[in-house]
Amino acid sequence: MRHSKRLEALPPYLFAELERKIQAKKAQGVDVISLGIGDPDTPTPGFVIDALADAARDPGTHQYPSNRGRPEFREGVADFYKRRFGVELDADTEIIPALGAKECVFNLNLAFLDPGDTALASDPGYPVYTGGPLLSGAEPVLMPLVPELGFAPDLDAIEDPGRAKLMFLNYPNNPTGAVLPDGLFERAIEFAREHDILVVHDASYTEISFDGYKPPSFLETPGAKEVGVEVFSLSKGYNMTGWRTAAIVGNAEAVEAYWRLKTNIDSGMFEAVQLAAVAALRDGDETSREMSAIYQRRRDLVCGALREIGVEVTPPKGTIYVWAPVPDGHTSASYCELVLEESGVVISPGGAYGQSGEGWFRISLTVPDDRLSEAVERMRSSLGG
Ligand SMILES: Cc1ncc(COP(=O)(O)O)c(C=O)c1O
Repeated sequence: MRHSKRLEALPPYLFAELERKIQAKKAQGVDVISLGIGDPDTPTPGFVIDALADAARDPGTHQYPSNRGRPEFREGVADFYKRRFGVELDADTEIIPALGAKECVFNLNLAFLDPGDTALASDPGYPVYTGGPLLSGAEPVLMPLVPELGFAPDLDAIEDPGRAKLMFLNYPNNPTGAVLPDGLFERAIEFAREHDILVVHDASYTEISFDGYKPPSFLETPGAKEVGVEVFSLSKGYNMTGWRTAAIVGNAEAVEAYWRLKTNIDSGMFEAVQLAAVAALRDGDETSREMSAIYQRRRDLVCGALREIGVEVTPPKGTIYVWAPVPDGHTSASYCELVLEESGVVISPGGAYGQSGEGWFRISLTVPDDRLSEAVERMRSSLGG
């Protein structure tokens, strides 16, 4: 079989070796606890499921949806952005549903990049920021997130962005758990204006935050809508990862380009899911508050245990991840293997999120409290002291 050059351009799957070791451990009868994947363990709230069931009983939702989305969806997103962020959006031209932030981020690459173009990708970062450009025949250019700058990219260090057409930012950030560094959005807007770049802000984690911190939208920053879009996902804040619900909002020309591309790729979001998403956005503030409280408690449990085993960790103010440096003498991969070997606990090697993630590891907080306590206890007893 002859695969496309595009497919061959993708980097090797860096979790492959870890996965092989996990399977081997399981085969030995070890009760492996995975803190690897960021997928909420708590179910979607009942009122969202009820809204889906009601909408699914209406035959008016059963036909091909339009890629523009139902007016109720677009108005629901506009109402949410006004209430939550104080951002005004035109429901006719500045909002379109997306089948998850992943789909949207990927397809923006297809809509904007040609061979020879580049996209500036946060490093470490969500893998689609690099896979998207590669699969579009373009190239990702890594922007290292600098720990000393609060995990901001140093935009002043980019002398000539060349043929960069896109810039991917994401705060609160996966995998680092960092929240928006002061002044970054302002600087990114200036940079985008100067170099004619579309900023894509991935807002997958704005609804999960701790210690009273409220993450802003990119679109709150003056000038953002002229140069950028935001991809808002319902996956993490409302426990809806399986539902594939997100929206692209912001610059009307970019939203239109995404729509044009999408009319050739898929047929939009099931309308009953769109109506359930409206319910989540309208009535879900309590859900995201409760989820944030759960993750904050788990964050404290994990950070406390990591300190006890000598890991220097800064507790994150958002996301569902704890990001910490591996102890001296280890690489990301060797430390993750040691933790698996000694305690039967899976943690993610930072290097899997890009070269700047090397030397770090990520723990996901999306496992039930009893399993997380057990994992932390095992790490403390097998790796402590
Ligand atoms: C930064 C980031 N963007 C996007 C996604 C995917 O979100 P969605 O479920 O909306 O596709 C994730 C999921 O982990 C993520 O961490």
